[in-house]
Amino acid sequence: MSINQLVYISQAVRKMSPEDLAAIQETAKKNNGPLDVTGSLFDNGGWFLQVLEGPASTLDKLYKKIELDPRHKNSRILYNEPANFRTFPRWSMNMTNLNDRQADKYDELVEVLDAAQANRKIGSTSPAVALLKIFKN
Ligand SMILES: Cc1cc2nc3c(=O)[nH]c(=O)nc-3n(C[C@H](O)[C@H](O)[C@H](O)COP(=O)(O)O)c2cc1C
Repeated sequence: MSINQLVYISQAVRKMSPEDLAAIQETAKKNNGPLDVTGSLFDNGGWFLQVLEGPASTLDKLYKKIELDPRHKNSRILYNEPANFRTFPRWSMNMTNLNDRQADKYDELVEVLDAAQANRKIGSTSPAVALLKIFKN
């Protein structure tokens, strides 16, 4: 089945606690699995960046619901395009806290988040495409 990848960025309305984030992940896992949606949610303390992968019409409906969530605001789609494969095939919703993470991809991810926040491209590419490229490597 053909799938889309949708990436959006949003602003948390308050500092999210580990419990807040766990609650979001629990709901996402419960709902996304049966919908054939996979993805990853990046949180850097003040901003969310979420990658959602699945059938296009399912993603559109899911995004409309997520967008209305009072835990975040100023949600903006960065990317919504057909994809040949899933970047996160094993995750109904993976969570990555960018501030806590000592990973080799940390600097790249922070750069992508900064660019997304400032609405600027990285080289010739959008932040969302740059993000997806990081995970294809
Ligand atoms: C940053 C963020 C990401 C979210 N991601 C998802 C998601 O991937 N899937 C999902 O079902 N709900 C997600 N939610 C929660 C939804 O906004 C909404 O609360 C939930 O889908 C309601 O589910 P329910 O009707 O089963 O209670 C997210 C919320 C936030 C704040």
